[in-house]
Formats: sequence, C-alpha cells, structure tokens
Amino acid sequence: MKNSSQVIVRPARNVRGSVELPGDKSISHRYAMLSGIAEGPSRLENYSTGADCATTLGCMRSLGVAWERKGGAGNVIEVHGRGQSLAPPTAQLDCGNSGSTMRMLSGIVAAQKFTSEMIGDESLSRRPMERVIKPLTAMGAQIASQEGKPPLRVTGAVLKAIDYKMPVVSAQVKSCLLFAGLFSDGETRIEEPLRTRDHGEVALRAFGAQLESKSAGQGNVVRIRGGQRLRGMEARIPGDISSAAFFLCAAALFPGSQLAIPNLLMNPTRARLLDILMQMGLCISVTQLDEIHGEMVGTLQVEGGTLKGATIAGGDSAALIDEIPVLAAIAPYTEQGIEVRDAKELRVKESDRIASMARNLRLMGAQVDERDDGLKIPGGQQLHGAELDSFGDHRIAMAFAVAALRAEGETLIRGAESAAISYPAFFPTLEEVTER
Ligand code: S3P
Repeated sequence: MKNSSQVIVRPARNVRGSVELPGDKSISHRYAMLSGIAEGPSRLENYSTGADCATTLGCMRSLGVAWERKGGAGNVIEVHGRGQSLAPPTAQLDCGNSGSTMRMLSGIVAAQKFTSEMIGDESLSRRPMERVIKPLTAMGAQIASQEGKPPLRVTGAVLKAIDYKMPVVSAQVKSCLLFAGLFSDGETRIEEPLRTRDHGEVALRAFGAQLESKSAGQGNVVRIRGGQRLRGMEARIPGDISSAAFFLCAAALFPGSQLAIPNLLMNPTRARLLDILMQMGLCISVTQLDEIHGEMVGTLQVEGGTLKGATIAGGDSAALIDEIPVLAAIAPYTEQGIEVRDAKELRVKESDRIASMARNLRLMGAQVDERDDGLKIPGGQQLHGAELDSFGDHRIAMAFAVAALRAEGETLIRGAESAAISYPAFFPTLEEVTER
C-alpha cells in the first residue's frame, strides 16, 4: 500500500473485554464470487471489511455483476447474480494485494468466452501463480504470465474436467479448480496431500451445488460434476478466526486476561489454533455452537493462564498458515518457545513471512533461529520495544502489535496501514481491550 502510516503500541497490563470480528475473509471472497455466478439475488451479512474482499467485489463488478453495499450496521452486501456467463471486463481486473482473488477468480474467468487481464500490486506481482496456471491450462484455458507470476492474461475456453493431484498444499488452488470444475464437461477430481480449509466445498454446497469429499490419509479427495447451476442465498458470515488469532494470542500473554468472542467461525479446518493455544495453557470454553450454511459458529470465553511452548509441523503448519506470524510473535514469552517446521509457503505470502518475523523479533531483542522452512524461537525471553516494519504485510503488522504488549517500552510499527487488508479496525479494537 502506498500511504505509509505508523502506529505506536505501548506495553499493557492485561487484556479484557469482548471482540466481535468482521466476517471471515476466506468465506467472504468465496461468497462474493459464487453469488456473482449464481442465479438470483444473494444477501451477504457481516461481509469482511478488509480491503482484499472489497477487491474481489470490485473484480466481480468489472465482470458485469451488480451489487450494492447496504447502509447501516451489519456490513451487508446484496449481489445480483448473473448466472454462469459474465461480461467481458472493460478494464484490467485489479486484484490488489489479494492472492485469494487472483487465484480463485482465475478458475471462473478461465471458463468465460473472453480474455481477462489480471493484475496485482507489487507484492502480489511477486507471488507464484504456476499452481493455478498449470491445472487450468490442462483444462483448456490459455494463460500468459510473467514466468509464472502476475500479470495473468487468461483466455477462457470450454473447459474439460480434470483429475488432479495438487503438488502444492493450497486451499486457494483447490477452490480455483472446484470453481473451474463447475463449468467443465464431466467430473473434476482434486486430490490434496494435506487437508486444507474447506470453505470452497462448503460454499458451493450452500449455493446449491453437489460435490463429494472424502478424507484420504492426512489428505482429501473432492469431486465436482460440471454443468451445475448455483442459486443465490442469504447468509451471515461468521467472524474471522484468523483475525481473532491476534486477540487470542494477546489474551494468552496475560495470566489474568478475560475475553469474550461471539459469532466466531469454528470450522474444524480453521480451528487448529484453538487446540494449540489450549495445549499451551490458554483456557477456552465454547458457550454456544451453531451451524450456518455448513459453517460452524461459536461464542468463546477465554482466560489467560500459563503459556507453555509448542511445535508446529506437518499438517499443522498448513492448518495454521495464517496464524503462525502471531504465534511466532508471542513465542519468546512462552516457557519453552515455539518451533515452526514445514512452513516454506510462508516465504511466498504477502511478504517473506519467515524473514519478516525473524527480523522484527531480533529488532525486539529476541534470539531466533531462522530456517528455510520455519523458525525456532526459544522461550523465556524478555523483549524490548523497537522500530519495526510491517513489510507491507497485514499479518506482520498485527502480530507485532501483539508482541509489543509484553515488551519493555514502546514499539513503533511502520506501514501499520497494511492491517486494513484484512482488518481495518484492528488497532482501535486492540486499544479497547488492553488495560494499561
Ligand atoms: C486462503 C488460503 C491460504 C491462506 C490465505 C487464504 C483461502 O492460502 O494463507 O490467507 O482463503 O483459501 P494458500 O491457499 O496459498 O495456502
């Protein structure tokens, strides 16, 4: 993002209060795309307030989908689905900072009767797209790129179904191919080596599609038949658990903390953080559990206790991919430290997150062992305030605001505005629940 702003975070004594999160980013992207290609209207309540999800809506508008943001509370978006045929865009599809937008939407535009140019900001332009280009090309689309990176020029085709074993563990790629599969001739079968978030599958069913999914070892196989039509729906999007992670970890830093989090997404493919934090000593109880359109939603009561260490590896690294930055940020304050392995994907996120985490932790005085696929951060360390950078990465900006709560002295975070990519109200909300 261009306008650089800085935020100063002062140490806190405790965390206490209630936080209701804006709608989950992963679900908001998928609902925005699927409501656009569904027949009839959809009403999406508690749509993510993040810039990334506004980017997806912007692209849908460029593809001829009409939608309005309703005034008043609740972040309601009404989308007028136009069915499977979208309109040729009159300008480039600007995916901004959002890998989810570019990767998942490519599965939809690959099936249209026109060519789309997909562009992104500086960070997105460095991110790998080969993972969608290869299978979509095998399905019949033509995609030109800059050696596997954006911009993408996608020329749509009548797609052929595919039987694809994903070499990269990625829910974005899985959703991209399921969306493309919806437009294809025959049955598409996707096999993932490790189970990733299943919002694509759940959302497709909510919009009326039928698909089969079956666990296979640590992985998963999903099948979708082409030619199915979607119908619009009304939904309330559960609070974003990856945004809640910052508050959960902030609460974990203080033995006397108390936090309530209503209407939180509890989808089991996203909730691994809760198990890990409980193993580390945070007391979490779920007081209400409901299901909305296949997604679990709960209310959490959280109390801080001791803070033991953790090792995150294998399937856990994939399941916690968005939460690792904040876990790393609290690691020095734990008793035994945190080790992260098998998380090389972090190097190709909005920033090289392994390098960003190591750099900021060291600036705060921490000892860190940086590795190719993760980090080892010893526990029992006291950090000091420092001048840090977000590296233009929303999750790095927010993670280090949490680390700053237990440091000695103030911490300045440059590029703090990047938090708005997923959570514009993050800093004021953090202020509301911290006691000094
Ligand atoms: C997402 C999947 C993950 C995650 C991203 C959102 C999704 O990316 O990091 O923030 O909504 O499917 P990958 O698919 O690249 O692992």
